Amino acid sequence: RTVYVNGEYLPETEATVSIFDRGFLFADAVYEVTSVLDGKLIDFEGHAVRLERSLNELDMQAPCTKEELLEIHRKLVELNGIEEGLIYLQVSRGSDGDRDFVFPSEDTKPTLVLFTQNKPGLANSSAAQKGAKVISIEDIRWGRRDIKTVQLLYPSMGKMMAKAAGADDAWMIEDGYVTEGTSNNAYYVKDGVIVTRPLSNDILHGITRKAVLRLAEEAQMKIEERLFTIDEAKEADEAFTTSASAFVMPVVEVDGVALGDGTPGPIAKRLREIYLEESR
Ligand code: PDD
Repeated sequence: RTVYVNGEYLPETEATVSIFDRGFLFADAVYEVTSVLDGKLIDFEGHAVRLERSLNELDMQAPCTKEELLEIHRKLVELNGIEEGLIYLQVSRGSDGDRDFVFPSEDTKPTLVLFTQNKPGLANSSAAQKGAKVISIEDIRWGRRDIKTVQLLYPSMGKMMAKAAGADDAWMIEDGYVTEGTSNNAYYVKDGVIVTRPLSNDILHGITRKAVLRLAEEAQMKIEERLFTIDEAKEADEAFTTSASAFVMPVVEVDGVALGDGTPGPIAKRLREIYLEESR
């Protein structure tokens, strides 16, 4: 695999970052994951705009222009022959060669890393045909989940808890209400109404969420953006999640309770279809 690091395209075994990098020592870094279908980037603009916002919120310098970022994405897709897969991008605050809680001076160069993940069959995944089982766990993450930082230890632990419980993923709960999945936004459907948490600092403003809600609206589906509990989700007709890495993923079980007949619901399946059609 050819990867990108700070201006260079290199074999992955030759790409290096300093051990003092603040991304490594302090999780002082933000990221984006963009999907690729038929060799084309899905919603690059949305991801670039959110990256800019994450950087701004943390007073971090942009490593390059949006046009340069697009060029790097395209070149990596080409160099690695990606037809279906993902591109991971990370910007960290870099380092001035030591460990210090205080940010380094403003002229410190941020570290920019990108790599591709080849995932043939991503759009046609068997996981989506089966649907996902989720468990619920407490949301103990920090209060700025709208910023896409690499502080992903708790979401990783949530995935491990899900696996240990024989499930696929975890939905997180704060003050009695579902926030989101470990790496996706969460929805349930009851009597034809799609319910999802409204945007705030409590959840990531998903790029896929925005596209899917627009498509649902265009398809005359009913949407309610409001807080919801895990008990509501358990009594739902169906449920699903959205993310750049799994598009629309049907959810068929919540805390051991099967939704509907325990197979992917019609609205989730329809939205997945429309989303993939529209994106290509
Ligand atoms: N995760 N919520 C969280 C906590 C996420 O980490 C993600 C994305 C989403 C969905 O956002 P989007 O539709 O823009 O991908 C919601 C990425 C895919 C990841 O960490 O791999």
